[in-house]
Order: sequence, then structure tokens, then C-alpha cells
Amino acid sequence: MLTIAIDGPASSGKSTIARLLAERLNIIYVDTGAMYRGITYYMLTQGKEIDSQADFSFLEEIDLSFEYINGLQHILLNGQDLTHEIRGEEVTKYVSPVAAIPQVRDYLVSMQQKMAAKTSLVMDGRDIGTTVLPQATYKFYFEASPEVRALRRYKENQALGYTKESLEEIKKGIIERDHYDMNRPVSPLKPAQDAIIIDTSDLTIEEVLQKIEEIIH
Ligand code: C5P
Repeated sequence: MLTIAIDGPASSGKSTIARLLAERLNIIYVDTGAMYRGITYYMLTQGKEIDSQADFSFLEEIDLSFEYINGLQHILLNGQDLTHEIRGEEVTKYVSPVAAIPQVRDYLVSMQQKMAAKTSLVMDGRDIGTTVLPQATYKFYFEASPEVRALRRYKENQALGYTKESLEEIKKGIIERDHYDMNRPVSPLKPAQDAIIIDTSDLTIEEVLQKIEEIIH
């Protein structure tokens, strides 16, 4: 079984590379950020308190699953396709506090480990190399300057027709989310000791893929 972990801060290029790499290797791609976003969407729409002291038994009743349509991962929560909804501003704002809650992490990490036990995959996130798959075949950690990352996200948003947030607002949001993710007590964002670090600031998507493929082959 081949397992490839890709971690790194927001908009460092993880999901684009992970998706393309999985496609080339003909294995599945799992976007774990989408899982945290799915739970956040559920909590916001169901009026659940974002507080680790609250009751999280509802997690056991959530049916979270993935479908792959034309190679793209769709996330389904209790049968509802939330692929689009989880990218909204509200979810982006609250996802880091939700992801810092130990009960949420335990629930999702165990689900992610079960997925990786069944099939070869590329999994991206914040704690894949350190916590979810410490025995991954390959571990990569992406870095890029906040300016480059904000500009990438800005262009991506424009291409998708989301034009509400300015470049400065996006940069601020990215820096805040990284800070939160890197400083939480449970599974903070950091490279695994044996991860290969790639700075993607000045690299094209193809160049990053080439680097990874050279290492894997
Ligand atoms: O990758 P994405 O930006 O969609 O992730 C959203 C948030 O989910 C991150 O900012 C982080 O708080 C959380 N996350 C996490 N662990 C993962 C993946 C995502 O804590 N493995």
C-alpha cells in the first residue's frame, strides 16, 4: 500500500498537487481539510456550540462520506453534497477553532486512518505526517510566503467568481488561520521530523510535481 502525506499551511498548494499526484498514480486523494470544514458547516447550521466542554456525542450520528465524480472529491454529510458550501467565508472563519477541539480531531483522525488502511492514497492536511499516518510511505511539507499564498487564493477566488474578499483580507485570514493551527495544543501544524520540505513560492505546479515524482520513482 502506498500512502503519501502532504501537510502545510493554508493555500500552500497542497490540494492542487495532491489531487494531480493521485490522478497520475491512479490512487485516491483525500482532502482532510474538507472533513473539518464539513463538521464546521454542520455545527454552524445546527447551532452547535464551538466549545470543547460541550456535548459532542452528535458526531457519532453524522454520516460523513466521499464520492468521486470525474476525479473530484465530493463531500456528503447525511446524504447532502456540501462540496460548495464548505468553501464559504463563514466556514473558513470558524474551521480552525472547530479543528482545535480534541473530540472532533479524534473522530476524524480515526476515520482517516481507516481510509488509509483500506487503500493507497494521497492525503493532505495539517497533521497527516505527524499524527494520522506517522508510517506514511512518503511525507511532504509545503511552505510558501503569506504573500504568494494570498495571491494564489485571490486568483482562485476570482476564477470561481468569489470576489468579495480583497487581497489584503485574504492575507490576513491566512495568517490568522496558520497562527491558530500552529499553536493549538492538539496536533499543531508542523512538519514531521522525517518530512521532505518543499518551498513552493517560486515553483510552478508542474515543477512541484516533478520534484515529488523524482523522489517517489
Ligand atoms: O485545508 P483547508 O484549508 O481546507 O483546512 C481547513 C482547516 O481545517 C485548517 O485551517 C485547519 O484548522 C483544519 N485542518 C486540520 N487538520 C487537517 C486538515 C485541516 O486541523 N488534517
